[in-house]
Amino acid sequence: MTIRTLEGDGLTLRNRSVLAPMCTYSVTAKDGVPSDWHLVHLGARANGGFGLIIAEATGVSPEARISDQDLGLWNDEQRDAFKRITNYLHSYGAAAGIQLAHAGGKASTYPHLLEYVDSDRKGSIPEEQGGWETVGPSETDIHRLRSPREMTAEDIQKVIKDFTDAARRADEAGFDFIQIHAAHGYLIHQFLSPLTNKREDEWGGSFENRTRLALEVVKAVREVWPQNKALGIRFSGTDWVEEGWTIEETIQLSHLVADLGVTAIDLSSAGIGQYFGPMGPGYQTQLAAQVKKSFEGQDMFVTAVGFITTAEQAETLLMTDQADGISIARAALNDPHWAANAAKTLGVTAKEDPRAAQYWRGSW
Ligand code: FNR
Repeated sequence: MTIRTLEGDGLTLRNRSVLAPMCTYSVTAKDGVPSDWHLVHLGARANGGFGLIIAEATGVSPEARISDQDLGLWNDEQRDAFKRITNYLHSYGAAAGIQLAHAGGKASTYPHLLEYVDSDRKGSIPEEQGGWETVGPSETDIHRLRSPREMTAEDIQKVIKDFTDAARRADEAGFDFIQIHAAHGYLIHQFLSPLTNKREDEWGGSFENRTRLALEVVKAVREVWPQNKALGIRFSGTDWVEEGWTIEETIQLSHLVADLGVTAIDLSSAGIGQYFGPMGPGYQTQLAAQVKKSFEGQDMFVTAVGFITTAEQAETLLMTDQADGISIARAALNDPHWAANAAKTLGVTAKEDPRAAQYWRGSW
């Protein structure tokens, strides 16, 4: 499977399984620098046969992080630490991707895993405990967090520049693929959704204005990201509420980003406020199917995600042309060899098994 690039032969993946980005809120992530833990975590999934591995949501600036245990890519120390990881992923046959992110009004929270061990430590971190001012398109209490400050035009330009600088460092770190995080109620999605964007200037109101930040970020990243490397984006295909961001808007925006050089789109959903769709196997794969259909006859790598857990479920989505690739998150937390085991279930021979050779007996 190949993801098209603007120049060159494209990014060829050994199979169509993608490790979805997952924040791990590791205590070892000091000042956004990936540690041995991240190397082992991501490396294990390369050993386990994934075609493309996307590192967790990585802040383009310190204040862009969800928590202070997130990774970042705003300095050279972080870049150099990522280089070790991309080298490893490549040496075990996986393509290396990174998700570049800004959490906007959902930044400065406790690491999400803490609420499972300490229910008092959830939501916004108070400033006296290291929290920071958050920014967003408009003030809002929709996320039950401290309200973000409404961004000025200068704030918006700084975010675009931060994405650009992070993209340049991602290239230097050896990544093959960038996924811009425009989903899950984080900054770019906050601009897209009328639920969080109440602005009356050129950054809010109409579809054209609400999508401006997403398009400006794509344009700026595309300028520094080499033409022979693939650029992707993750959308929440819907806010699951009538007054919110819709699948029709997602499809329209997908074609606009395609015109700017995006060749891979991942379709998730939700993240603004407390709205959720149906929950169950493949609950949101129809969003990928709709976007894919809209690109009929064109070369766009569309991935489905969400409660895809079995090899058969993944294969059905591919065989019925609902997606070009399958992003796996939670199932891969439990089974780093999910991709290789899926291949085995589907009848791939031991010789073609993508797991690291050291594990060859696992393919029997
Ligand atoms: C996530 N998810 C996520 N999404 C994203 O775009 N960036 C991220 O950093 C994270 N972080 C994250 C951490 C953890 C622990 C989980 C479980 C999930 C969402 C994830 O990529 C995926 O879209 C959903 O989990 C649905 O897919 P699964 O888990 O049903 O395969």
